[in-house]
Amino acid sequence: MKTILDIVDRTPEPAPWSEGDNIPWDDPGFSVRMLAEHLSQEHDLASRRSETIDRHVEWIFSEILGSRPARLLDLACGPGLYAIRLARIGCECVGIDFSPASIRYATDTAAAEAQLSCTYHHSDVRNGLFGEGFDLVMMLYGQFNVFPRDLGMEILQKAHRALKPGGTLLLEYQSREQIQRGGESDRSWYTARSGLFSGAPHLVLQENFWHADAGASTTRFSVIDARTGAVSSYALSNEAYSEADLSDALLSAGFRETERFPSLRGEADTEEDDLPVVVARG
Ligand SMILES: C[S@@+](CC[C@H](N)C(=O)[O-])C[C@H]1O[C@@H](n2cnc3c(N)ncnc32)[C@H](O)[C@@H]1O
Repeated sequence: MKTILDIVDRTPEPAPWSEGDNIPWDDPGFSVRMLAEHLSQEHDLASRRSETIDRHVEWIFSEILGSRPARLLDLACGPGLYAIRLARIGCECVGIDFSPASIRYATDTAAAEAQLSCTYHHSDVRNGLFGEGFDLVMMLYGQFNVFPRDLGMEILQKAHRALKPGGTLLLEYQSREQIQRGGESDRSWYTARSGLFSGAPHLVLQENFWHADAGASTTRFSVIDARTGAVSSYALSNEAYSEADLSDALLSAGFRETERFPSLRGEADTEEDDLPVVVARG
């Protein structure tokens, strides 16, 4: 059992991805607790609130799909909040995610509306199959950056192969500045009777790191069970791409970059949780 002594003796600054590659989205218990955060209308932590997703979907349909129903693949789709909306306006949607509770929710929600063409696969985008013949492949809410560069490259290559010739990739990513800001932000802590990391009372210590040389950030969570003192640790890193780096990665994966947008709303007056968007053709 890890204890507070392990926190005292921790590596002062971990190398990126050395202490873990993500929070445990794919853990069954964690995924049930996380699903509640995805669906919450109080904050935009795991997924955005419905009103924002409605606006994003309107923009994706009109700007990216030219208001024509298409066959699309949503990578790391979470509970399918984008896919189901696009299916309701005529798209044929496939979603992939490795969170069991999210995929269950997405599947049940789509099944409740019998006429929708919306299927979901419980699979890891790092090693799962993507299928083929899509008009659009998208990965939203900055998830692309959590993969180290070599894995990110493989995901782009698989996305390219999944598209019809001339199909579109839509990537909503975290800018280098956003990642640096997160990595340089102060350490913090909170307590909860029950929360994301545990259903029992616990304390969460969060540390952030900006690895200037590697161009990456790491966030480390140390979770202390209030009753037993047992410590669990999680870490996630984010790869920071400059605009030129991302263009090069897209080019080497076989894409032709076409456009960049400041947000999924397509507007320049960005809001706090807006992330930049790159659109590329296969
Ligand atoms: C921030 S959420 C975004 C969900 C969705 N795109 C949205 O905006 O509502 C990130 C999602 O990525 C999924 N994810 C992370 N790593 C993954 C992987 N390796 N394979 C499949 N899904 C992954 C998580 O389970 C989670 O649902």
